[in-house]
Amino acid sequence: MDVFDGNKFLNTVLLLVTTIIVAKLISAFIIPKSKKRLPPIVKGWPIIGGLYRFLKGPIFMLRQEYPKLGGVFTLKIFHKNITFLIGPEVSAHFFKAPESDLSQQEVYQFNVPTFGPGVVFDVDYSVRQEQFRFFTEALRVNKLKSYVNQMVTEAEDYFSKWGSSGEVDLKYELEHLIILTASRCLLGREVRDKLFDDVSALFHDLDNGMLPISVLFPYLPIPAHKRRDEARKKLASIFASIISSRKSADNSEDDMLQCFIDSKYKDGRPTTEAEVTGLLIAALFAGQHTSSITSTWTGAYLMCNKQYLSAVVEEQKNLMEKHGDRVDHDVLAEMDVLYRCIKEALRLHPPLIMLLRSSHSDFSVTTREGKEYDIPKGHIVATSPAFANRLPHIFNDPDRYDPDRYAVGREEDKAAGAFSYISFGGGRHGCLGEPFAYLQIKAIWTHLLRNFELELLSPFPEIDWNAMVVGVKGKVMVRYKRRQLSVDQ
Ligand code: HEM
Repeated sequence: MDVFDGNKFLNTVLLLVTTIIVAKLISAFIIPKSKKRLPPIVKGWPIIGGLYRFLKGPIFMLRQEYPKLGGVFTLKIFHKNITFLIGPEVSAHFFKAPESDLSQQEVYQFNVPTFGPGVVFDVDYSVRQEQFRFFTEALRVNKLKSYVNQMVTEAEDYFSKWGSSGEVDLKYELEHLIILTASRCLLGREVRDKLFDDVSALFHDLDNGMLPISVLFPYLPIPAHKRRDEARKKLASIFASIISSRKSADNSEDDMLQCFIDSKYKDGRPTTEAEVTGLLIAALFAGQHTSSITSTWTGAYLMCNKQYLSAVVEEQKNLMEKHGDRVDHDVLAEMDVLYRCIKEALRLHPPLIMLLRSSHSDFSVTTREGKEYDIPKGHIVATSPAFANRLPHIFNDPDRYDPDRYAVGREEDKAAGAFSYISFGGGRHGCLGEPFAYLQIKAIWTHLLRNFELELLSPFPEIDWNAMVVGVKGKVMVRYKRRQLSVDQ
């Protein structure tokens, strides 16, 4: 090697070393700087640590991590990153983002074998949006008015079977009444009057096929999934024959089934029988357990808080003075005290404890402490009604049952802006059945308050965190005594 060649070699080595050093410097100053803005990560054993903590109970994990990490942090489960956005300061994007940025389809895929093909999370967003329009139309005020009359009749019939006094498991009773009411208003007269036992048994199998494991592996060939698939097929054939007999007899009814039969896509295409069945199943899954659980919590809180029990009874007397025995949509709409009592039970016990989205674009959030975080696309994004509804900087003394916190002058659910109270979600995918749910729960409690004295015999119920729709653990034994509430009592 001559001197010239030697220099060339030295230069090349120098260039290489300089390049490596510069690259290192860039990575030291630039990449960590952007990494610094990633949310903090929940500590746990490598690979399965996150899964273990999540399965032990997401709310317990949130209770431990929120004080340490703040409102934004990431939990790693295998190769997945779940980023939590807790509190109205950081969750606005969760609720408002368009589907192209944050979507539901991937994370709620586990519903597909239950709802069936061609509906909701099995179809593109444009079709899903149209199907949600069918829901909106089926739940318009004029429809709600006729559903309320059916709710009231169902409650009267159901409680007429109670004796003059006795002891019942209120949770069981309300579950049954709500199945009957949902059958009447949503599934239709044919199911309610003739096929109730068969259809209830099939829905029971669908329900039991929705296990925590189904969220990860919806098609795992386990007996519960096989029964779910069988039940789904049988429901499809039952509804196909109801739909075709309604169509051939040119029969029109006042229920959600009829609304879905009459619904049309923008291009004029009518819904198919399979789509109608799938949408009805989705409606029942969205509205049945959620409402019955909320009715039970409402009752448990009223029985344990005499001041609110007296306040709702007083409200009933005032309305009876004004409207007599009439109970319809407009009378129920006047029940503000009862509304706040239900709303407060639902704040403390939202049945849907975790809401999820899949992120398709990077976004940033600023916490209430002023920290900025970048959430990369590809993360699963989560928020939690069960945790966020009890944040002490939003709700004063958050674990206390205090329905007056929504009264004029306090309005704690609004003080920190939208997305403070998120039992019904909010924004782009806020619950479409909220008015229906309140009317149903109010109709039931109106009947109970006007016709019975109630006393809770069990200890105050605990939360059943293991259920997919989180509800009440064990029985809720109640002693009842018939009474006729009158204006001058
Ligand atoms: C107390 C009762 C109820 C509670 C607590 C509740 C809660 C919720 C929540 C939290 C969401 C948002 C889910 C998300 O953002 O991922 C939601 C959505 C929805 N709910 Fe409800 N719900 C109730 C009753 C009902 C009823 C009775 C119906 C229909 C009859 C219904 C139909 C729907 C529908 C169709 C959506 C989807 C809206 C969309 O994605 O655009 N819900 N509900």
